[in-house]
Parts: sequence; structure tokens; C-alpha cells
Amino acid sequence: MSKQFKRTLITSALPYANGPIHIGHLAGVYVPADIYTRYLRLKGEEVVHIGGSDEHGVPITIRARKEGVTPQDIVDRYHELIKKSFEEFGIAFDIYSRTTSDIHKKTASDFFRKLYDGGKFIEQETEQYYDEEAHQFLADRYITGTCPHCKNENAYGDQCEACGTSLNATDLINPKSTLSGSVPVMRKTKHWYLPLDQYEMWLRQWILEDHKEWKTNVYGQCKSWLDAGLHPRAVTRDLDWGVPVPVEGAEGKVLYVWFDAPIGYISNTIELFPNDWEKWWKDEDTKLVHFIGKDNIVFHCIVFPAMLKADGSYILPENVPSNEFLNLEGDKISTSRNWAVWLHEYLEEFPDKQDVLRYVLTANAPETKDNDFMWKDFQARNNNELVAVLGNFVNRALVLTQKYFDNKVPARGTYNEYDEQTISEIATVRAAVEKNLDNYRFREALKEAMNLARIGNKYLADTEPWKTAKTDMDRTATIMNLSLQITANLAIVFEPFLPFASQKIKDFLQVNNLKWEQIGDLNLLLEGHELGEASLLFEKIEDETIEKQIQKLLDTKKENEANEYTPAPIKENVAFDDFGKLDIRVGTVLECEKVPKADKLLRFLLDDGLGKRTILSGIAEYYPDPQELVGKQICFVANFEPRKLRGLMSEGMILSAQDADGSLSVIQTSREVKPGSTVN
Ligand code: 2FM
Ligand code: ZN
Repeated sequence: MSKQFKRTLITSALPYANGPIHIGHLAGVYVPADIYTRYLRLKGEEVVHIGGSDEHGVPITIRARKEGVTPQDIVDRYHELIKKSFEEFGIAFDIYSRTTSDIHKKTASDFFRKLYDGGKFIEQETEQYYDEEAHQFLADRYITGTCPHCKNENAYGDQCEACGTSLNATDLINPKSTLSGSVPVMRKTKHWYLPLDQYEMWLRQWILEDHKEWKTNVYGQCKSWLDAGLHPRAVTRDLDWGVPVPVEGAEGKVLYVWFDAPIGYISNTIELFPNDWEKWWKDEDTKLVHFIGKDNIVFHCIVFPAMLKADGSYILPENVPSNEFLNLEGDKISTSRNWAVWLHEYLEEFPDKQDVLRYVLTANAPETKDNDFMWKDFQARNNNELVAVLGNFVNRALVLTQKYFDNKVPARGTYNEYDEQTISEIATVRAAVEKNLDNYRFREALKEAMNLARIGNKYLADTEPWKTAKTDMDRTATIMNLSLQITANLAIVFEPFLPFASQKIKDFLQVNNLKWEQIGDLNLLLEGHELGEASLLFEKIEDETIEKQIQKLLDTKKENEANEYTPAPIKENVAFDDFGKLDIRVGTVLECEKVPKADKLLRFLLDDGLGKRTILSGIAEYYPDPQELVGKQICFVANFEPRKLRGLMSEGMILSAQDADGSLSVIQTSREVKPGSTVN
């Protein structure tokens, strides 16, 4: 028997406020957390959902430096943008605050101080890189150098992005500070460490024995960390952006961002309930659930619990239902490569379609393994499921009631076998959805909710009220009454998943205040109750709209390829005399056309100053309209040995530049010169 709790405290990972958020964030953390929160609330349980921005850490300082603004400017900008995206997508936070708030700074500082005073940290001196020109210690990201593995000269102190190896700054060959460009020196510095090794036995028992029910991806990751053995972790850094370390002699040091961020959950709760926050964090009757992405597992299952345990007055998470990653069209979502669907852009391009995205991200959630978001799947799920199943049923129920019963709930007669069969199917829906939601299986839960709409569609198809209306209005009234009751049930069961559509259905039906326990109740609408105005719940998404999104990604891909282009290595040196053997000249293009039956060849007729010459060049695919080259002055090798191609003599070679994607572009002069001018 699992423990019964009085209330639930739900936290969602605090996103870094150094960029907007994308579908990966929504799918991994915020949509499941929101579904869970709404579900418990609808059940009338005592629940809060805590969110906020994570506003410290080195990447924010790097971004600020790049843009020539302060870190505070960066987090102010993105905190607002992120907060707005969450609001627009209906993510039901009770508070969305930030780790630069005064309350947070005090809470995090006090938390550290209590552990410090209690002797829970180890103090240790180590040597770290220091920039003597910028007068500061360097975070790993602030050091670049040559990767010892692949010799990439622009590797970072924490990772080489060329070969993917994670590094220590001391591994780099020829390290350089990105702040001043100078060569950093080693200098002694003192830090405080949380001795995770001392918590290892306790963590093994608490996770591996007492929480076998955690999702296998979470449990598995914890087990491999624990099996590898835990080591003390530094919880302070030499940096000027963060919560200052509240200890004498710690000037210029701040709390490590991963120490202060999870305390943000506590500070934001304090901000929300200044007088009453402790019951949420210190009462064994509170169930604490952290929604996070898989890269956060170690911090939420090992480091933060060890911090809470070290303090001793807090409860521990009951579950950490982490998701895996969502990829986009086969590639990892990446902010720096702009490989993402940004929420603020989605809303501009798909206004009022928040629920479509919520639906697709839940139906396809990366719950047990990484998954892909594909635009074609997005379209198919909208058109074949939301429009054809849910929207279609609700629309038919409403339109037929309008047509036959003046938009009022008709009186019900006795049920026949179809009705009885349908009613018995409806009776199973609530338990099926609940069982999945209670176990954080949101995809399955959504499927079960959708099943209710399928039951409704089948009922209409079997009973055909449009036919009975010709002969038997009493029978038709019963069918429509039951269909409307199913519609009201749909409004409840979909509220956690599709809050906007659910509200729309309630508006159509002119009902409110429906409760989760009412799922299965077929007396939600009274006879004679007047319905509101109906409109379509979902709209079909056309091919063109999807093609546009796919094209947008293809453009991004092309741009990235160009940006990631590494020019070919320089060839061996040549002597001046060898270069002089090439006779490169400028010619004016008199004619330029495709060579018939040769896909790749263009025939150039050039004025070379001495006469006319024909040159063939294999660049036709890059000039669909060869006429554009006529009149241009281009470079060619005049003493290239003539050769025959496709029966035509080619007298020279046109020079062109090869771009990152392999495309060729002929070389022109920057000013007009006499045809035949030599190129030296
Ligand atoms: O991975 C991230 O985006 C982190 N900012 C998550 C922090 S979660 C919590 F600890 F605040
Ligand atoms: Zn490398």
C-alpha cells in the first residue's frame, strides 16, 4: 500500500533565463507537470505547482559579455519572455518567480550558512586557472585551447565541441583566457564541497531499495551514478554572478548555480506562502514531486536530496518523473544551432493552437526513450485525431441538438441495448485515465481520454440520429441527450490535457465547475438546459502550412552547414615561377547557355581581348538561368590545355569558388577591366 499524503507539492525544473523556450522544454517537463497539477486540482486535492527562472550560472555571464550588456539585462529579458510563453500555453503555475529575487538570495544564503555552521561541508584548496589581466579566476567555459584528443584549436575548458569529449580546463593544450586573450596561470583558491560520498549508503537505500517504483530511466541513471561511487562536489565558484558565499574570506565567490537553483523551489514557495510555506516542505504528509528533463536527474535525485538531508528539516521527493529528450525531425534540439520550434514563434504561426501542440507533445512524449517531433506527425495527429475524432464528435452532438431540439438538452427516454453498451464502456474511462495519471504515464492517459471521444463517435454511427429524426423524435432525443452528456464528460476528462478546448466545450454547453469525480456521470446536463453557440473545436491543418515549417527547418540546416564549414587545408607551397606558369585572365561573357543533352555543362563564349573563345564548364546546375552571366567579367585559365567535351572544343577553364554546400559560383572582377587583362 503506498502512503497516503495530504497535499502535493509539484516543482518544474527552473529553465535558464538565457534564451527562449522550445517544444523540448514543454514536452519534457512543463506539459506533464501541468497535466498532473490540473488533474489533482480537478480532483479537489491540495496542490501547488512551483516554477521560476534559473538566473545564475556561467552561460548567462558569457551571453551578457558577448552582447555587451549585464547578466541582469539578459535574465530580465528572458525571464519575461519565458514567463509569457508559459502563460500562453496554459502552464498552471501557482508562482513563476526567479532566482535573482531577494527572497531567493536570502533563502539560498541561509541554507548554505546552516550547512556551513553545522560542519556539513569540506573546505578544500585547489589550483585553478586565473587571468592576471582580467584579475579573476576562470570558469572552464572561459578558457579555450587545443583539444588533446582531436587537436581542434577552439575547444572549451569543459568540452570540445568538435569531438564531443568532456574536458577539464587543465587538459587543454595552449590554454587561453577568453576574457583577455592572455595565457592563464595556476593559482590557489578555496572552495566548499558537499561530501556526497558520505551520503552514498543512505542514497543507495533510499533510491535503490525504497524507490524501486521510480521510472526505469530515472532509477537506472541513479544506479549507475551510485555504482560508480560518489565524490565530494564543490558547491561554490569563483565568479561575480550568483548568490555570494555568506562566509568571511569568501569574497568574490558565489554559490554554484546547481546549489542555488533547486533551493529556488523553496524560495518561490516562501514567496507564495510567506507564513505557511513550511507545511509544504517540512511536513511528512506533503508529497514532493519534481518534474525535470533527463540531464537534471543527478541533481534532483542525488545532489539536492543530499543537501536536504544535510539540513535535516526537509522532506524528500517522493518521485522524480523525468522524461527523456525530444528531438526535432531526427536531430537533437539545439539552441545554438537554432534547431528548435520556439514557443513564441509557434504561437505567431499557429495562433490559438496551443492545445494542438500540447496534444501532440503528450501523445508523442519522450516518456521512456528519446522521441522525435515531426511536422507531418503534428499535422496527422491534428487532422486525424483532434479534428476527426474529438472535434467531430463534439461538433455533431451540438449541431444535431441545434437542428432537432432548438439548442436545448432534450428529454431522455428509456435506454436500448446500444445505449446500455455505450454506458458500460463510458464507465471504465475514469479509472483507466486515473491509473495512468497516478503513475505519470501521460501518453497512455491521453489515449484513454481520447477513447471516450471514440466511444461517442461509435455511438452516433451506430444509432444514426439523423435517420431516427425522420421517424422517431423520442428516440432521437435520447440519443442526443446521451451524446451531450458524453460531451460534458469530455470537457472534464480533457481539462488537464487540453485546457483551452475543454473551456471551449464548457462554453458551448454553458456549464462550469465540473469536477473530476463527475466523469462517468450521465446527468451533468438537465433537460431543457439551453446550450451556447457552437463553433469548430479544431481546424484542419493544410499541407502548405506544414511544408512551410519543414522549409524553415531546411533553411536553418543549410545555414548551419555553411556556418560550420571548415575550409580545406592549405596545399603545399608553390614557387613564384610555378604560379607564373598559369595564365589567368579576365574575359567578358558574350554568350552563355546550357549544352543540349548535357545536364551539367554550360557553354561560355568569351571576349578574351584577342578574339572570341569557347569554354565549357560543369556548373549548369548552379545557374538555372545562364543568361544572368552574359555581360559579366569573369576569370578563366587561358593556357589550360584545350579538350573536347561532348563534341565541342573547350579552350580554357572557368574559375569558380566552391561554397560550403558544394555549389559553385564563377569569379568576377570587382571593377570593370579590359577583356584579356591578366590576373596576377
Ligand atoms: O537544466 C536546466 O535548465 C536547469 N536550469 C534546471 C534547474 S532545475 C532546478 F534545480 F532549479
Ligand atoms: Zn576534440
